[in-house]
Amino acid sequence: MNFSKLIPWNIYLKKGVVLLMNILVVGSGGREHALSWKLSQSPKVNKVFTAPGNGGTQNNISIESDDIDGLADFARNNDCFTVVGPEAPLAAGIVDKFNKMNLKIFGPTKKAAQLESSKIWAKNFMKRNEIPTARFEVFDDPKKAKEFVSSINYNVVVKADGLAAGKGVIVCNSTDEAIAAIDTILVKKTFGDAGNQIIIEERIDGIEASFIALSDGNIAIPMASSQDHKRIFDGDTGPNTGGMGAYSPTPVINNTLAKTIQEKIIDKTINAMKSEGFPFQGFLYAGIMIRDGQPYVLEYNVRMGDPECQPIIMRMDFDLYEYLKAGVEGTLSSMPAPNWKEQSAVCVVLASDGYPDSYPKSEEISGLDLTLENTIVFHAGTKIHDGKIISNGGRVLGVTALGNSLQSAISNAYSATEGIQWPHKYFRTDIGKKGLSYL
Ligand code: AMP
Ligand code: GLY
Repeated sequence: MNFSKLIPWNIYLKKGVVLLMNILVVGSGGREHALSWKLSQSPKVNKVFTAPGNGGTQNNISIESDDIDGLADFARNNDCFTVVGPEAPLAAGIVDKFNKMNLKIFGPTKKAAQLESSKIWAKNFMKRNEIPTARFEVFDDPKKAKEFVSSINYNVVVKADGLAAGKGVIVCNSTDEAIAAIDTILVKKTFGDAGNQIIIEERIDGIEASFIALSDGNIAIPMASSQDHKRIFDGDTGPNTGGMGAYSPTPVINNTLAKTIQEKIIDKTINAMKSEGFPFQGFLYAGIMIRDGQPYVLEYNVRMGDPECQPIIMRMDFDLYEYLKAGVEGTLSSMPAPNWKEQSAVCVVLASDGYPDSYPKSEEISGLDLTLENTIVFHAGTKIHDGKIISNGGRVLGVTALGNSLQSAISNAYSATEGIQWPHKYFRTDIGKKGLSYL
């Protein structure tokens, strides 16, 4: 008798007792490479698939991250526990679909993902739940919006309501700039339907940091703090990008402030989402502005940050899969507090020159075979062509290094970037520097 026919091929036994899981990571960026790298180290994980993945991820499946039906079929046929990287499939309801099919998936439902997919929904949620955020007004009529900005005596930020690939936010220095921003979003419709409504909110001048927590819908466990570098040029100048580098932990968030953020923002959000009927399971990311020692939520994301994920993951001294599993099962409260490496981690993003506008693609990248202790090169916009790694996006690689101090992690990351070359390589030279001034 052939016993293998009785046992599904995708159930694996370790030491005869432990059931090993397959994992499906959805997405193709540096964040997804970091997630699949970490999850593949779990003794409870058999194989990690990435869909569609990039030139650095293993076991790539050619299903795009918006093909929810295709992903569901793959996860069912391969008995996968699924982890979703980017926001778009979450906003489109991938978790609702998987839940209906009884497939295990870590991430928020479509309703819970409104925290990111509708800025207006998120602002009203914060207002009714007294979660600290900038005061704001909502408009769909450009005339009324312009009258409003002409009537106030503080600087504003104009935001498109919907998802606009991180570009729908215009920080204004004057009334004229605010009027131009209103035209861009509401009249010229530069961001399409995402700009049918706008938020005009008070500009808060302070220090920005990222605070990410992992929630099972009932409680949230904080991840290590981090700080992103969103602008394209050194000194935080030039246009906004997806993020040009990040480091963890950030001295900008000390223990006292971390406790305040956890209580006044994260716990309040998780409790309110539950009591309003949209329990939030997944990574909850609060983009924070700190002014006069007090945190304000600039935005929520319903996923890990990219590139924040890369240095945070490098510092995890625990089995991430165990926590994601507890997140799905609603048992986070029975998990021990996760251990973090004392070391700092820095991720320097190597981009294609021209990003965030247009940039060349398909350039061969050399020097990727380097092996440095404590350094991992996470791929983002890369792919394999004729056996070679070529550039395939704006943010191409995230060189991520540990160090015994922030300064040494910075030095380790930058020295690792030196050997990696392609014709239009571009990077910021000051990742982590702003953290040094707070030490
Ligand atoms: P968002 O996508 O909402 O995080 O906005 C993108 C960037 O705009 C943030 O990372 C901040 O640098 C800036 N920003 C957003 N809202 C505000 C605000 N109320 N005050 C100051 N800067 C802001
Ligand atoms: N790094 C910012 C973000 O992931 O939205």
